[in-house]
Amino acid sequence: YPADELMPLTCRGRVRGLEPSRGDVDDALGKFSLTLIDTLDTLVLLNKTTEFEAAVRKVLSDVRLDNDIVVSVFETNIRVLGSLGGHSMAVMLKGGGQHMQWYQDELLHMAKDVGLRLLPAFNTSSGLPYPRVNLKHGVRGPETRTGTETDTCTACAGTMILEFAALSRFTGDPVFEAHARRALDFLWEKRQRNSNLVGTTINIHSGEWVRRDSGVGAGIDSYYEYLLKAYILLGDDQFLQRFNTVSHYASIMKYISQPPLLLDVHIHKPLLPARTWMDSLLAFFPGLQVLKGDIRPAIETHEMLYQVTKKHNFLPEAFTTDFRVHWAQHPLRPEFAESTYFLYKATGDPYYLEAGRTILDNLNRFARVPCGFAAMKDVRTGSHEDRMDSFFLAEMFKYLFLLFADVDEVPFDVEDYIFTTEAHFLPLSLSTAAHSSPITLNTTPGMGRPPLRAQDFMANNPEHLELLRRMGVSLIHLKDGRVQLVQHATQVNTDHVFVCLQ
Ligand SMILES: *[C@@H]1O[C@H](CO)[C@@H](O)[C@H](O)[C@H]1NC(C)=O
Ligand SMILES: *[C@@H]1O[C@H](CO)[C@@H](O)[C@H](O)[C@H]1NC(C)=O
Repeated sequence: YPADELMPLTCRGRVRGLEPSRGDVDDALGKFSLTLIDTLDTLVLLNKTTEFEAAVRKVLSDVRLDNDIVVSVFETNIRVLGSLGGHSMAVMLKGGGQHMQWYQDELLHMAKDVGLRLLPAFNTSSGLPYPRVNLKHGVRGPETRTGTETDTCTACAGTMILEFAALSRFTGDPVFEAHARRALDFLWEKRQRNSNLVGTTINIHSGEWVRRDSGVGAGIDSYYEYLLKAYILLGDDQFLQRFNTVSHYASIMKYISQPPLLLDVHIHKPLLPARTWMDSLLAFFPGLQVLKGDIRPAIETHEMLYQVTKKHNFLPEAFTTDFRVHWAQHPLRPEFAESTYFLYKATGDPYYLEAGRTILDNLNRFARVPCGFAAMKDVRTGSHEDRMDSFFLAEMFKYLFLLFADVDEVPFDVEDYIFTTEAHFLPLSLSTAAHSSPITLNTTPGMGRPPLRAQDFMANNPEHLELLRRMGVSLIHLKDGRVQLVQHATQVNTDHVFVCLQ
């Protein structure tokens, strides 16, 4: 601190401009103490409340946003604007009456400042954002490359809606949500109409696909994630239809998913494989399938990823269909831990604790160094890189902690929040629209079953709640003596839910 990242081998902070450039990776570093901001809500989850309070004070007093520096719009959104997760935590703690009593929405104001600095990127005829923006000058600054860029990745343009909608709903200013929606609408329009798939890279001016390969990993991954999660957070059926009913998911399962493998295809010739290797980012996909309620293929793909992990200690950045290394580095990515956590929650199967144990042991054995955890330069030799990305603390720590924590060891109910792609917490209460199909307990489930009584539920039997959670349903609020449940998975069998409650 106050550097953006830790260099765990040399025990220094990484300050952009003072270290040799690493290319695009450095676009996450905006001289805004990235790692501390990205880690705020991790501190709360780990019950480090005093440390959280001190960290928020540091961020508010020291971090500047008007830096003359070009940053990635995508990374700045998910990692810095995602500090809204810290805002939610601050508000929650303040309500507890002990900590953060001085807090007056300062993190929210900061998030809005970030949002306003990202908005100029959306000034394109398509509405798709430029991939990079200068924090001080927007896209027309002295740096020539920002305003002249033509291409962006699908995930880069399609992973704004959760943070931007949260920002709009927290602040009452609709401009952010409107821009994120417009970009999503454009991507939807541009899907290949026969295969219903999207490409990996798109021209932000013409809307033409630049790279027409299609998978669920690098370049596309969180676009799909945000369609489903936008539905869950915002309750807008349109997002679910795009993800699920009409289109994308069915096409993924038809063309890309070859259980246990997930292999890229061409959007125009979806039966034609585009490559014979997989990238490590697709390891998030089983977790998304759990959220959707499609457990079986999630289990199969996760098992494949576990075998690759056991073979190489970590998931290599890319690996072949016969599990050989294709790209040997591993920057401590959290996606496999994320899927492991969601599968454990869905199944309760201790097998996933064993998988989590493998992740944890390998991190301690191979990546831990005196100053932190070092990225693997080559998983085959165990050599290190002087690099510890902020997502390691923001995501890996959260998912591993949650995997092993008992309910009474978690300081708040994570079921009240949705995880962003950077594992920040956004409160489900942000949804203003009623959920499309809320299940209320005083309705009759049919087939002669008696209506359920809300007071049975109010007894608050934790085992019932836990069972419901495993089914992808959670309790959202009590109103007029009625209990409302919200589906997190889209294929919830309501009969099972009622059986469970009874
Ligand atoms: C958008 O870009 C045009 C030029 O392409 C410029 O004239 C206009 O001021 C920009 N608007 C905003 C809000 O930045
Ligand atoms: C969090 O820490 C406080 C103070 O150390 C402790 O009293 C409390 O029980 C902890 N909560 C959890 C959920 O571990």
